[in-house]
This record gives sequence, structure tokens and C-alpha cells, in this order.
Amino acid sequence: MSSKGQKGKKVSQDLDDDMEFLLAASAANKAKIAESIEKSLIPDSVFANLPTAPIDVNPSRNFGPRHIMEYDEKIGYRPKEEQMKNIQKLEDALPDFREAGIIHQSVREWALNSEIIKPGVKLYDMCGQIEEAVRRMVKFDPPYRGLAFPCGCSINHCAAHYSPVPGDETILGSSDVMKIDYGVAINGHIIDSAFTVSFNPVFDPLINASKEATNAAIKMSGPDARLGDIGATIEEIISSYQLELDGKIYNIKPVYNLGGHQMDDYIIHCGNHIPLCKDRSGSENNERMKYGELYALETFATSGKGIVFDDGATSHFMVSRSPAKIKNGSQKELYDCIQNNFKTMAFCQRFIERSGMRKYQLALNDLVHSKAVTPYPPLSDIKGSYVSQHEHTFAILEHHKEVFSRE
Ligand code: CO
Ligand code: CO
Repeated sequence: MSSKGQKGKKVSQDLDDDMEFLLAASAANKAKIAESIEKSLIPDSVFANLPTAPIDVNPSRNFGPRHIMEYDEKIGYRPKEEQMKNIQKLEDALPDFREAGIIHQSVREWALNSEIIKPGVKLYDMCGQIEEAVRRMVKFDPPYRGLAFPCGCSINHCAAHYSPVPGDETILGSSDVMKIDYGVAINGHIIDSAFTVSFNPVFDPLINASKEATNAAIKMSGPDARLGDIGATIEEIISSYQLELDGKIYNIKPVYNLGGHQMDDYIIHCGNHIPLCKDRSGSENNERMKYGELYALETFATSGKGIVFDDGATSHFMVSRSPAKIKNGSQKELYDCIQNNFKTMAFCQRFIERSGMRKYQLALNDLVHSKAVTPYPPLSDIKGSYVSQHEHTFAILEHHKEVFSRE
């Protein structure tokens, strides 16, 4: 079928009509995008019980210390010059770390107490609500004030990096074991913290295993603490727990190929890796913590094999460190959007949509294919197993540690 031409009209009139049509179409398209962002925004009523943003409570930002922990033993030496520089850098950023820590804790408590997290909720909505609560409390201003990575909600045998992609209709079940892991970043200063939720008390030992291990590991941490010793303690604690399911006993073990990590400005993983088990290579892990380092200490306890592998649709992405060729057009448009909004921090499809981009999936596939963007797929243990996780962020300062993600 073709449209009928209008005989007898002047050419210029036709051109005017075309132009008018194009302008109207463009306006309609813009309105459609604005409307779909509006629609994807969550009603205010959901956030009725959300605490006031810390920056509104304390505009001068002189936030008090979070959870201060003394070093276990007297450290035998003062920080070296390079370490003193790193301590200074952390101290300069204390208002950011403390504000982000307050926000992380407030959103966690709000989500647990205002029924954002409960059996029957759609995980896609739950993650979006947690992320939006962070945006409200942090006064969202990407890339300076926002989320350090997507809200993860890894379920049961999935240990990490699962967050529903658009179209994922998964509902939280009453016997699920869910790891909620999200990050708050202010000026690139990241708080990475996670906890495990279950509504069935049979999983309490599994949850307590990672909680106790993380707390013990943070207690051991400090200048000169050997990463190998921390890993051995984590394994010993986690392995002392058992899970009883339907009359069957399961030994709990750490996830051997996951661990804690150091962080830097806008960078979620760098430097030291904190193992979750004792050295098995024969060569001792003599790497030690130092003054002026920032850690996200996380442990995972599992009733499965203790090894996780890539599993399922990817929601977590990050720009690659190595430079890549970006084609002009939709690829360049998406790449610019990613850099402007997230810099080198992780993002997901929800984040891209929230920034106003539509029809980005092909361009995203292309960026992954050309290695400009790295995918971080969900990581799972064997089907039928259950994994718990517990994580906090702390800094090794001159006289003590400060755990920012709790008070
Ligand atoms: Co985390
Ligand atoms: Co982490």
C-alpha cells in the first residue's frame, strides 16, 4: 500500500508539510521517552518511610565517625611515607565514606522494615526500589553521587552478580536465601556492603556462618595482617557450621573462588584479594594489609561444592580498562552515556534506562563484543545448594579501622 500524492500542490508547500511532520514526530518521540522515564519512576508513596538524606540533616557534612575498631595488637611501627599519603587521602574523603555508609545502612533498614523485601515481591521491582531509595538519599547526581553498582539479589545457589534484566519476572519465594548487595558512591568513594535475607529459620546457621566469618576477618584486619591468616580463619569459622534440610545434614564451606577486595576511587576491585580459605598451593600467601588501604571484606558460605561458575543472563557490566575502538553512531552514544553516568563503575540495563536511553541492547551487545565493555555474569554454585554472603567496607587508618557500612 502506498499513500496518495496530492496533485496540484506547490513543491515548497510539500516541503513545509514534510518539515512540520518531522518536527511533530520528533516532539512526539521526545514526549514518549519522557513519559516512559516518568512511568519507570516509582511512586513517592513507596519512599514514605525513607529517612531524610544525611546531607539535609547535616549540610556542613561533618559526619561523626562510623564504627571505629581498635587494632588487635599494638602495631610495631608508624606508617611509612607512602602509607601516610594514602591515609591522608582516605581522611580527606571521610565525609564521603561516612555519608555513603549512613545511606547504605539507612536504605538496608528501610528496605527490611517497610516491606520492600518480603516473599511475593517481584525482584526486578525490589532492586529498582532499593536503587531509587539510594538515589533519593544521596541526591543523585551522576557520576558524583549515586550507585557504585547495580543492586544484586542473588538467590539460593547463585552467589553473586544476579540482578534481574528487563523482562525477568522472578518472584521472591518464602524459602529463598537472597543476598542483597549494593554500593553507594560519592565522588568515587565507594561503600560496598551486602547481607543475606531468608524467611525460613532453617537457614540461620548458613547466614550466621558468613556473618561470623566476616566479622572475625574485619577484627583481624589491620596493618601487617597476613591475608593468608585471614583466609584460614574465615574457612575455619565457616566450616564449623552445618545446615540441616529435611533431616539431611550438609557441611558448610566457603566459596573458594570468591573473596574480599581492595577498592580505589571509582574502582570496585583492585589490589589485594582476601581469600576465603587457607593456602593450598604450598606457597604461603604472605601478602599483608597496609596502612591507608580501603577494603570490602566479604565472605560466602555454601552448602554446595564451594566453587562458583558463570550462570545465566548478565546484568552487571563495566567499561574495560584497556582502550577499545568505538564505532560512531549508537555505539558511541551508549559508550558516552556510560562514561558520563558511571565512569569506571558497574552498571546494568536498569541504570541505562534510568538515564533516558532507549533501544540500547544491540549497541550494548556490540560494545561487549568489541571488548569495550566487560560483562560480569551471575556466579553460581551447583543447583540445589544454598549460599549466604556478608560484606562490609572499612579503611585502615593511622590509629584504628573505621567500618563505614555500620555504626
Ligand atoms: Co558487594
Ligand atoms: Co564486594
